[in-house]
Amino acid sequence: MRLKGKVAIVTGAGTGIGEAIAHKFSREGALLLLAGLPGDPVQDVAAAIVAAGGKAEAFLGDLSEEDQARECVEAAIRRYGRIEVLVNNAGIFIANAETDEYRIEDFDRTIRANNRTAFLMTKFAIPHLHKTRGNILFTGSEAGINGSANFTPYGASKAFLHAFAKGVALEQAKYGVRANCVCPGAIDTAWTRGPGGPLSSEIQQTIDGMVPLGRRGTPEEMANIFAFLASDEASYITGALLLADGGVTPAKGPMGQFVPDELRRAPAATLPLRHSHDGLRGKQVFHAK
Ligand SMILES: NC(=O)c1ccc[n+]([C@@H]2O[C@H](COP(=O)([O-])OP(=O)(O)OC[C@H]3O[C@@H](n4cnc5c(N)ncnc54)[C@H](O)[C@@H]3O)[C@@H](O)[C@H]2O)c1
Repeated sequence: MRLKGKVAIVTGAGTGIGEAIAHKFSREGALLLLAGLPGDPVQDVAAAIVAAGGKAEAFLGDLSEEDQARECVEAAIRRYGRIEVLVNNAGIFIANAETDEYRIEDFDRTIRANNRTAFLMTKFAIPHLHKTRGNILFTGSEAGINGSANFTPYGASKAFLHAFAKGVALEQAKYGVRANCVCPGAIDTAWTRGPGGPLSSEIQQTIDGMVPLGRRGTPEEMANIFAFLASDEASYITGALLLADGGVTPAKGPMGQFVPDELRRAPAATLPLRHSHDGLRGKQVFHAK
């Protein structure tokens, strides 16, 4: 129970990594305000947590809108009276096109969903985090370190979050508020597996071979890292980028193909996830021809 009694807001909590963070935090004793877009299964995740004996409330809204981000933070205060942890996890990955063909509307959507949400939520949560000496977590990406061909604005939006997290950490340290950023590699969500996503089926089939550990990460493996960083066990960590990419960043070539099958198995799941691959439902995904 590393988060016992701590109030946490998790954005993008209806699907994928966010759903896993929600369940993991609840198991660790957190009281949750789970946020997502109106079409996201956030209420379903909240209901599953409540049914398992946890505390969770859903907030539906577009967090890139100022009034809705403010209202999300206020909803947590109304329900629980305080906030100890903000997890800025919401984001989109909705286009696959070289830069000259990347649509301006997709650039704008990406920056709004990946950056404006995190800025607004952080801005509105900080006064409350001062009172609790709380902490902020961001979901960055190895793409924010290495860049990403064919979705250059996505990688750049993640680099923004890396620098933003570090700046917030430096600025807020004097108030006792920590800020850190987890940088996943390819994780098994709608973004890397299944039809209708931004990656072609050929690329989807080669991903595991690119990763030195020989497989995608699981949402639960990411949630474990967020739980540690959010907890008091991480009291001396701030301004950190924590790479969780199976070794992709230092790799020089498709090293995953040398990993034997028995070492490619993901750890057994312990969280009851139902929406790992639902994140792109209802979203328009653009592929350049
Ligand atoms: N899956 C990967 O391979 C991978 C790799 C690196 C980083 N990440 C990061 O992890 C985070 C979660 O991604 P995921 O793979 O779980 O995808 P996902 O699509 O399952 O989850 C993202 C959630 O954020 C929500 N969201 C988007 N815009 C929003 C807005 N304006 N307001 C409220 N909610 C909004 C989406 O509706 C969705 O439910 C993202 O920030 C992503 O950039 C994912």
